[in-house]
Amino acid sequence: MTKESQKTNTMTAEETARQNSFIELAKTLTAQKSNTLGRPLTYCLTTFGCQMNEKQSEVVAGIMDEIGYHRQDNEEADVVIYNTCTVRENANLKVYGRLGHLHSLKDKNPDMKIILFGCMMQEPHVVEKIKKTYPFVNLVFGTHNIFKFAELFYDMQQSEQQIVDIWEGTDQIVEDLPTERNYTFKSGVNIMFGCNNFCSYCIVPYVRGRERSREPEAIVKEVKRLAADGVSEVMLLGQNVNSYGKTLENPVTFAQLLEMLEDIEGLKRIRFMTSHPKDLSDELIATMAKSKKICHHLHLPLQSGSSRILKVMNRRYDKEKYLDLVDRIRTAIPDISLTTDIIVGFPGETEEDFQETLDVVAKCGYDTAFTFLYSKRSDTPAAAMENQVPQDVAKERFNRLLALVQQEGRRRSSRFEGSVQEVLVEEESKEKGIFTGRTEYNLLVHFPGNESLLGKYVRVHLDECRGFYYLGTLEENE
Ligand code: 5AD
Ligand code: SF4
Repeated sequence: MTKESQKTNTMTAEETARQNSFIELAKTLTAQKSNTLGRPLTYCLTTFGCQMNEKQSEVVAGIMDEIGYHRQDNEEADVVIYNTCTVRENANLKVYGRLGHLHSLKDKNPDMKIILFGCMMQEPHVVEKIKKTYPFVNLVFGTHNIFKFAELFYDMQQSEQQIVDIWEGTDQIVEDLPTERNYTFKSGVNIMFGCNNFCSYCIVPYVRGRERSREPEAIVKEVKRLAADGVSEVMLLGQNVNSYGKTLENPVTFAQLLEMLEDIEGLKRIRFMTSHPKDLSDELIATMAKSKKICHHLHLPLQSGSSRILKVMNRRYDKEKYLDLVDRIRTAIPDISLTTDIIVGFPGETEEDFQETLDVVAKCGYDTAFTFLYSKRSDTPAAAMENQVPQDVAKERFNRLLALVQQEGRRRSSRFEGSVQEVLVEEESKEKGIFTGRTEYNLLVHFPGNESLLGKYVRVHLDECRGFYYLGTLEENE
C-alpha cells in the first residue's frame, strides 16, 4: 500500500468513527423522544433517479435504522427524506410537486422533519428556491457529504432553523458506513464517483463532481463481505466504469478489477453499469468473454446515431466507431444482450440526424433502449445552443423511435422463447403467487412459484415473450 492511500484510509477510518459517535448521540435523542411519545419513531425515504442514488439511499437508511427510526412506505412519518435527481427537468418537477403535499402533512404534524439531499441540491438555484419557497424543509445537503448524514441529522434534531450544507466537491471516499440493503441476495457496489466527460447536455459532472475511483482493495473487501453475507449478484456502479482506476495512485484497469472479483467465493453473477463506448477496451471484451461470472449484458449508451450530433454532444465517438465496437463485442460474445440510452431532440438535430439514430437502432439489435426527450439543463453547454428543437418536433420523433425500439426489442428478446434459462428469483410480483426473476441477460421472467425460491437460482422454461419480459414455468425438478 502506498503512503498516500494509507493516509486516505486513515482519514476514512477516523471519519467513520466520528460519524459513528454522532449515530450514538442521535440515538439517545431519538430514544428520549420515542419515550415521551410512547411509540416508535418512523421515517419514509424515497429515491429518485439512478442506481447510484439507490445505493446512497441504502447508507442513509442504514444510519436511520441505527439511530432507531423504523422505516415505512407512508409519508405520514416523523421524518420524510427525498434523495433527489436532476438529470432531466421532470425529476425536479416531481420533487417540487411532492413538497406541496408534504407541507400539508406538516401542518397536521408540526414535529415532522423533511430532508432533501442528492443531485438536485447541488444546483444553487434549487437551494435558493427551497430557502425562499419551502422554508419548512429542515435539512438540505448534496452528493458530496452524504457520509456526514449522522452528524447533520443530529444537528437537525436540535435546531429550529433550516440547515443547508452543500459542498462544491470532495476527494474523500468514506468507507464502512452502516448500510441497509434493499435485497439480501443482490447488491450495488460503487466503484467510482463523479464524471469527467462533460457530455454537452449532461448535468452530472456539475452535481457529482470529478471522477474518483475507490481503491480496488476496498472494493474486493466489500464484495467479499457481501458474498459471505449471502449476496450472489453484484452490480458495479459508476458513471463511466470503463475509465475506472485511471486516476488512482497505482492505476488499475476496469478489466483488472473484474479479474480480482472473479474468484470470490459465493459470488455467482457480476454486472456493471454504465459503460461509455469511447473507453470500452478490447481487454474488457476479452475479460467478459472468458469470465464465468460476468453477465453477458452490456448497457452501452448511444445517445445519438448521427456523427455530427455526437460531436456536438462531446461523446468522442462517431456512428462508425460505435457500430464497429458493437461488431467486435458481438464477435467475441455472440449471445450478449445490449441495451442503450438515446436522447431525441438534442439542439440542432435534423430529420437526417434522426434517421441516423433509427439506422443504428435497426442495426444494433438492442434488447431494450431507454429513450429520453432532450431536457435543457442549466449551465450545460447545450442549454446555451440557439437551435433548440421545438417540442412538437421532438415529441413526434420520440414516438417514432419508441415504436422502432419496441418492435426491435420484442424481436430481439424473443430469441430465448422456448428455452430454459437460469433465473435469479428477485421478488413476488404484484400478482400473488407469481414471482419475478432475471436471466443473466437482464431479461425479466414471471412465473408461478413460492417464497422459498427468493434469492435462489432456478431453471425456468420461457414460454412466451411479452416484449420486455417473459412468462415462464419452473422446470419440473426444481
Ligand atoms: N436530456 C435528456 N436525457 C438526458 N440524459 C442525460 N442528460 C440528459 C438530458 N439533458 C440521459 C442520457 C443518459 C441517461 C442516464 O440520461 O441518455 O445516458
Ligand atoms: Fe453525463 Fe456523459 Fe458523464 Fe454519462 S458520461 S454522466 S452522460 S457527462
